[in-house]
Amino acid sequence: MAQDFTHAPVLLDEVVALLAEVPAGVIVDATLGGAGHASRLLAERPDLGLVGFDRDEVARSAAMKVLAPFGDRAVIVPRRFSEIGEVVEAGSSGLGPWPQSGGAPMAGEVVGILADLGVSSPQLDEGERGFSFSQDGPLDMRMDATTGVTATALLDGMDERSLVTLLRENGEDRHARRIARAILAARPITTTAQLVDVVDRAVPRSDRRRGHVASRVFQGLRIAVNDELGELDLLLDAALDVLAPGGRLVVIAYHSGEDARVKHTMRRWAEGDCSCPHGMPCVCGSVTSGSLVGRRAVTASESEIARNPRSRSARLRAFEVDR
Ligand SMILES: C[S@@+](CC[C@H](N)C(=O)[O-])C[C@H]1O[C@@H](n2cnc3c(N)ncnc32)[C@H](O)[C@@H]1O
Repeated sequence: MAQDFTHAPVLLDEVVALLAEVPAGVIVDATLGGAGHASRLLAERPDLGLVGFDRDEVARSAAMKVLAPFGDRAVIVPRRFSEIGEVVEAGSSGLGPWPQSGGAPMAGEVVGILADLGVSSPQLDEGERGFSFSQDGPLDMRMDATTGVTATALLDGMDERSLVTLLRENGEDRHARRIARAILAARPITTTAQLVDVVDRAVPRSDRRRGHVASRVFQGLRIAVNDELGELDLLLDAALDVLAPGGRLVVIAYHSGEDARVKHTMRRWAEGDCSCPHGMPCVCGSVTSGSLVGRRAVTASESEIARNPRSRSARLRAFEVDR
């Protein structure tokens, strides 16, 4: 396991500026990672407490060290963020972990949720975790290595159709069927290097740009192994129940399928399922829940991308619940 946990938080200033507007209360960081966003938020806003989720034990112990200076203002829960509803209900009613202030559970509601989706740099860089197409290791890919099925086992149980769908959903249109067939024929695939090799051989030489196709296959598999789309749907389903009036949901997605879900859900909340023709005044009586903060997704600046190439695909969207 990696000893150092170094993850540069993406769109940090933008996240802090968006959450600077919320009332005093508790922020849920659904994806704590190395606590880069969380620690900056707590430093800038002494009137906030924080509940941090991460399903990865290595991330939680790194975050614990980073958040130590904030004492009881921050609590870390070893849960998936799809469980946000029950964690917040238990914590805010004194039956579970909750930020403290002056030795007592902090009053105030959840005024912000941050979800910085996907994986952290240490997860990607540590070959043993099996996420990386550039480092050999067991083909695992589980964020929580104590539960669920590995990528090897997932592939063992897949048929050609579902594997082709998975590859297409991740932008691998041209060679999806060839790659799927090659993977199925080579099973069991137990290492990352073996998978890279199989994918490489399945793609015609002229279309092989080192790592390019493999990176999409790895991303798609990782999303499936960790049920990342299912987790996101459940988080979005729970968010409006969890957030107090004036609270904000801020989501950073790195995958177009995830960003599309966030975009459509936030639009639906803002438009209240309005059935009136687009651009016409609403007469159908739909009720909105709040408003989009900015019409377009926020993306990283050229200078951030130069410093941190991982930020290139980031799309940040925010929603504010009516006050
Ligand atoms: C992009 S990193 C977050 C980085 C963090 N914002 C920072 O400043 O360091 C995403 C983190 O979310 C965690 N994660 C992803 N999906 C999760 C889920 N469904 N429940 C809990 N944690 C999750 C991953 O283990 C990873 O540590």
